[in-house]
Amino acid sequence: MITTTGLTKVYRSGDREVTALDGVDLHVREGEVYGVLGQSGAGKSTLIRCLNLLERPTSGTVTVAGTDLTALAGRKERAGAALRAARSHIGMVFQHFNLLSSRTVQDNVELPLEILKVDRRERARKALELLDLVGLADKAKAYPAQLSGGQKQRVGIARALAGDPKVLLSDEATSALDPETTRSILQLLRDLNRQLGLTIVLITHEMDVVKTICDSAALMKGGRVVESGTVAGLLATPGSELARELFPVGGEPSGDGRTVVDVTFHGSAATRPVISELSRTYNVDISILGAAMDTVGGKQVGRMRIELPGPFEENVVPIGFLREQGLQVDVADAADTDTPTGATAPAPTLRKDAAK
Ligand SMILES: Nc1ncnc2c1ncn2[C@@H]1O[C@H](COP(=O)(O)OP(=O)(O)O)[C@@H](O)[C@H]1O
Ligand SMILES: [Mg+2]
Repeated sequence: MITTTGLTKVYRSGDREVTALDGVDLHVREGEVYGVLGQSGAGKSTLIRCLNLLERPTSGTVTVAGTDLTALAGRKERAGAALRAARSHIGMVFQHFNLLSSRTVQDNVELPLEILKVDRRERARKALELLDLVGLADKAKAYPAQLSGGQKQRVGIARALAGDPKVLLSDEATSALDPETTRSILQLLRDLNRQLGLTIVLITHEMDVVKTICDSAALMKGGRVVESGTVAGLLATPGSELARELFPVGGEPSGDGRTVVDVTFHGSAATRPVISELSRTYNVDISILGAAMDTVGGKQVGRMRIELPGPFEENVVPIGFLREQGLQVDVADAADTDTPTGATAPAPTLRKDAAK
């Protein structure tokens, strides 16, 4: 549905250059909810603004629903008719809602339809239908100042849907909202994704958002996508940073010279007594340092941090056994498991070499 190839954006101000995007290849499938994660300054907003060409990429291409937007844009500063038409099929939701305070809720939702020169009666019909869809049928005549944050964002979503978009882009739509309102807005986005078959790309810095509604996710760092894939696939990728952040397990090793292993269970492996089999087969004592069960990407997943006696070299065979059972096993690097004082038990650095 959305494909970018070699997407690059360099901001120039005076003689300074900032490379906000550095060769991003993104692939978002039709009908999925795709989360973009990363720290502040990673390039997330630039990426999403390049997807509808609100920001002109310096190089690379953006294709949405089979249309090469970068080709439509040409070299002109202002968007031409063809680009504007293509863009009307891409809705955008903003962190700070961006509603016009002098217009009623209904008139805010009608705004994009006015720009598309839809006639007055059809505009009103469409706006009321959308307000009903987002649960605000009774607020049509209210003004933004009379609404709560969550209601304002619902108006923002209704407005983004006015042009019957196939794609919805959302830049931290819930980060100005309290946790409960966040949940209800996320549920709304998930419902719209299902009901309308809407493809959604959302930027967030909250892992919970990804767990709750995303099918796929990408992690950005320094203008690049460093990890991407389906949430289930990421969880099954040894050493995945996203998987570890999505599903942290705490627990400190009980002493030196032991091997700490993070085991992820999903699918049928979750229901077999693998740990007791391991203990019996190799006659090893296993300590459980931490464990959690959660639903990620709509599937039940378990993760456990266990400790085996002896260094990694002595545990190659038992670790191999776990992998043969179809479990994902990440071996923590003993040197990195020490928690700095005051820190809240960060996950140890994982040995990617050992984890393969
Ligand atoms: N209009 C701009 N002019 C110059 N630099 C910018 C502009 N917008 C963003 N940047 C820079 O590009 C980088 C990526 O920014 P941004 O895409 O906003 O990241 P994020 O949304 O992940 O926080 C940052 O270094 C930021 O300072
Ligand atoms: Mg941003």
